[in-house]
Amino acid sequence: MKGQFLLTRLVMISNRVIDFGAATQAGGVTVAIFDTLARHKGFWFGWNGQIDETESPETSLVSNDGHTTATLPLTAADYNDYYLGYSNSVLWPVFHNRLDLAQFEAGYYARYVAVNQKFAAHLAPLIEPDDILWVHDYHLFPLALELRKLGIQNPIGFFLHIPVGPAQALLAIPEHRELARALSAYDLVGLQTHRDVRNLIDFLQQSVFGRLLPSGRIRALDSELDVGCFPVGINPADFAGSPIVREKESPEIDRIIGIDRLDYTKGLPQKFRAYGKFLEDFPEHRRRIVLSQFAPPTRESVEAYADIRAELESLSGAINGRYGELDWVPINYIHRPMPRQELRDVYRSSRICWVTPLMDGMNLVSKEYIASQDPTDPGVLILSKFAGSASQLENAVLVNPYDVNDMVQSLHIALKMPLDERIERHEKLARIVRESDCGKWAKTYFSALVKAGKRRLHRSQPPARVADAMRRLAAAPKKKADTKPIVAHVGG
Ligand code: G6P
Repeated sequence: MKGQFLLTRLVMISNRVIDFGAATQAGGVTVAIFDTLARHKGFWFGWNGQIDETESPETSLVSNDGHTTATLPLTAADYNDYYLGYSNSVLWPVFHNRLDLAQFEAGYYARYVAVNQKFAAHLAPLIEPDDILWVHDYHLFPLALELRKLGIQNPIGFFLHIPVGPAQALLAIPEHRELARALSAYDLVGLQTHRDVRNLIDFLQQSVFGRLLPSGRIRALDSELDVGCFPVGINPADFAGSPIVREKESPEIDRIIGIDRLDYTKGLPQKFRAYGKFLEDFPEHRRRIVLSQFAPPTRESVEAYADIRAELESLSGAINGRYGELDWVPINYIHRPMPRQELRDVYRSSRICWVTPLMDGMNLVSKEYIASQDPTDPGVLILSKFAGSASQLENAVLVNPYDVNDMVQSLHIALKMPLDERIERHEKLARIVRESDCGKWAKTYFSALVKAGKRRLHRSQPPARVADAMRRLAAAPKKKADTKPIVAHVGG
């Protein structure tokens, strides 16, 4: 397995490809892909983040530091209907169980498929026979089906970084059968948690009468695929270092850090409201804590994202207005992304990391915070039960983000937690973060994909006895038309 992992070329495909050297806002998916490709030969294919109206754009191949990207631009219509439209106004809300925010507009789906066809047409000529293809995220469900139509027979795996909502929500998508068909063209579908696996199997059963086979594989339409749970990890070495003395702007003030994309799934209004209630219920903590919430905006032209921005500005303004003092501001609400090189020190100097999404595929901030702590004086992670990482990080202070009293109490518990309990919890959490790191995630998934790809090739070969009979038929001397044909026995 190890040799295979190192020798075979790995082609990573995701919607967004990042110039990692230049990026400040790299997170989740892009970091996991970059870390994997850093240990593996291959290249990264996808959108270059640019809008360009060129009819047939060239794929741009760039190699830098032994790391190769192959990218192309999108047109304005692609960006609108494929990226903002179908991906982020249909799939994103529905998979996060927010049907109320989904916008099923005519035209989105056609363009979504057209962009996947365009990606397939640009990618297919770059594929070599031994390559393994690993596709990431909801923007690219149809990619394997389109590549197969172009004759690509390589193993193709899919990994979903977002959660899978209940089947009832997914079935509301008008094109749910087409999406199930698209998924069934992959050899392996990887998800983050067992809950996601159960929901996806349920969806395949209800949408296209998928069947769970005794082998554990899923029979859907005319294909068989593997579905498994592969929780994504980080590279803890990026956040480790010799313990430093906790640096604070003010030694009297404990920082509570939050780092989230500005997204309605991240539970930010609930967090701000709970913080306001905490300051009201526990006045002794006023002037002693500050909530520093980084929330860089994304997908701003989607209505639901503009709404959340306005709501947060009003909530933070109200809290700062009500509780702030001349020399103390309760919330630092920052719209910029946190530069990646500063993350470790900010995590390390924060007493608490408050991560409270309403639903999240994994949430790597929770793992990065743990990996950054000084083990002799670690901070406390407060983590939503509904983040994928909660299924692994059980020793965090787990919280229900919908329950304001639970949120308030958990903040109180975290701020009061004695050193020995902080150390004990941190040791257990750090072990999990180390043992399920990004390298393990990639190796486990890769090995499962190679196996699944072999099984498909094996199934697509004619059964041995048929193949033998056909060979004998071809080798047999030509006989007159009225002689008995050789019959291939395929039964038994
Ligand atoms: C999530 C998705 C990724 C996406 C990222 C940033 O983590 O799973 O696929 O790239 O958000 O979102 P954006 O729309 O800016 O690419």
